[in-house]
Amino acid sequence: MSPNTATAIAHPNIAFIKYWGNRDQTLRLPENGSISMNLEELTTRTRITFDQAFSSDIFDLNGLRQSGPALQRVVTHLNVIRGIRGIATRAHVMSENNFPIGAGIASSASAFAALTVAAVNAMGLEMSEKDLSRLARRGSGSACRSIPTGFTEWYRGNSDMDSFAVSIAKPNHWDLVDCIAVVAAAHKKTGSSEGHKIASSSLFQAVRVADADRRIDRCRDALLARDFDALAEIIEEDSNMMHTVMMTSRPALFYWEPATIEIMKAVQTWRKTGIPAAYTIDAGPNVHIFCESKALENVKHRLASIPGVKEVLVAHPGSGAKIV
Ligand code: DP6
Repeated sequence: MSPNTATAIAHPNIAFIKYWGNRDQTLRLPENGSISMNLEELTTRTRITFDQAFSSDIFDLNGLRQSGPALQRVVTHLNVIRGIRGIATRAHVMSENNFPIGAGIASSASAFAALTVAAVNAMGLEMSEKDLSRLARRGSGSACRSIPTGFTEWYRGNSDMDSFAVSIAKPNHWDLVDCIAVVAAAHKKTGSSEGHKIASSSLFQAVRVADADRRIDRCRDALLARDFDALAEIIEEDSNMMHTVMMTSRPALFYWEPATIEIMKAVQTWRKTGIPAAYTIDAGPNVHIFCESKALENVKHRLASIPGVKEVLVAHPGSGAKIV
């Protein structure tokens, strides 16, 4: 194989209904299905070059040469893709993010979506969106939701074959905006991958999982009907349930900072006064506040005045992963 290069971009996504816990850690088969929205303004751009002259894989992230677990995770994923093609050629991966890594803005989602699309293309493989999503899932579960466009649903599935994400609405379906209140941009202590492994140690995980289909149905219905109040209620409930599991795992995981809870309470108060805003929080202290675009300036202004909020990033519904 002569040197083969491709560049892909992908956007991270924010989950309305969360993925937390795997039935199969290696295949990343989730305990429950999930729903999310891609974030257009946040981007990972990944260029990959396969060259027989390389003796090992190289991974540069934001211009810094990576080693240890970060490199190993990329190598493991490339090995899965090389296995499909039946080659052993090593690669140089160069990835750039335009947003802070490891602060609850799922960088692994856009990272593995972009890596998968770039690597598959550079190897000359043709794959359906479904198969790209299945493959991205192996690198990072939430990455499967960054492959299709707009608002996506990841089916729990029964096996590797039928656990993938599909688009349930295009980006222009609803002018929702995600205001990300950055409370801390430092790298989080316990990453999601470790969190998934201990999810089942919480007694509440079984209850959360048993009720997941109800939440997924409500969320999908609210999204398709553009019913903000219904969406607000279900995404806040789902986020609270996931954090209940996190806080009651062994060991317990506390991702919130004082400002996190300040924002959660403020958002609920705003909604009572008629402002269409709702919160959701991933495995980090930052809060994602959804609003309809008519309320954007008001919500941004209010968030910026809460002590502990360092910055507010704004993201609209985004497209799927693609070659550039
Ligand atoms: C809290 O997809 O980051 O953001 O599969 O180990 O890479 P890995 O985990 P990851 O988990 C995401 C967890 C979450 C909820 C969600 O995005 O659904």
